[in-house]
Amino acid sequence: MDTERTSVQQASRILVTRRLPSSVLAKLEAAGGVDLYSGDAAIAPDELRARVADKNALVSLLTDAIDRTVIDAAPELKVIANVAVGFNNIDVAYATSRGVVVTHTPDVLTESVADFTWALILAITRRLAEGERVVRSGAWKGWALDFMLGTELNGKQLGLVGVGRIGRAVAARAPVFGMRVVYTEPRDVDLPGAENVSLDRLLNTSDIVSLHVPLLPETRHLIDKKSLARMKRSAYLINTARGPVVDEAALAWALQHHLLAGAALDVYENEPAVHPELLKLDNVLLVPHLASATTETRTAMADLAAENVLAVLAGRPALTPVVLSQR
Ligand code: GLV
Repeated sequence: MDTERTSVQQASRILVTRRLPSSVLAKLEAAGGVDLYSGDAAIAPDELRARVADKNALVSLLTDAIDRTVIDAAPELKVIANVAVGFNNIDVAYATSRGVVVTHTPDVLTESVADFTWALILAITRRLAEGERVVRSGAWKGWALDFMLGTELNGKQLGLVGVGRIGRAVAARAPVFGMRVVYTEPRDVDLPGAENVSLDRLLNTSDIVSLHVPLLPETRHLIDKKSLARMKRSAYLINTARGPVVDEAALAWALQHHLLAGAALDVYENEPAVHPELLKLDNVLLVPHLASATTETRTAMADLAAENVLAVLAGRPALTPVVLSQR
């Protein structure tokens, strides 16, 4: 063990709120005392406050609400390392004001989430889940020329609401499917062939609308009744960003009234609850927050969180700190 790791070890008390890959836990254990919460569900807020009280590092998941009460409960806390690219579960401004570094896991999940976004686009436009339900229920009567027709992607328009790392990776895959890309962002982005348009125009003209903005006060319910009413009746909405970016009740209403053709959702307003009206609809594909869920990516995310902890505890800059102004 090098001297840096030895000195980290002497001072380190690390709370990990959920089981991580063993290679990652071993790395943290080599650096100091690890207190691992091993329950299957998210740690309860009271227990989180009690267990973080004497720690100087916290490895959190997106299901942990790291609010002022948690930060105040841990006077020696130096770093909160979220195992997620999103950080809406953490009061970053307050943590920063208390001198606590907050880190997240960008880049390592970009390709995995972009692939998954396309999996959702293909699945909803080609009615995969619906078709599977028909086969499993025994209701399939056999091949027919006009049975369960989907929608072609070739020649259509993909509208990306937000083109950070993930939005750009989704855009990069569009030519393979013959789609042109428009996006909406406050500033132009280097995305050859893609046009920056207003949200209104994007909603009005796109065949697929895919959300890639972080959850911020200004993006909460960005997709509400009004914006859904602007979409083409033949269009599909894809959400792999954060549930509250979409008003779920409004989406259920819009789908019931055929204001759009369908939606594919990986994220929900109150996970793991799903709006009961959405559960009744065939033209919505519902999957359980899986966009980054490959063994490779989840391991890389946990590993990056651990490296962030080790860096901060050793007095080095974090590898991937949260920058509050980032989009
Ligand atoms: C997943 O939703 C993440 O933010 O990493």
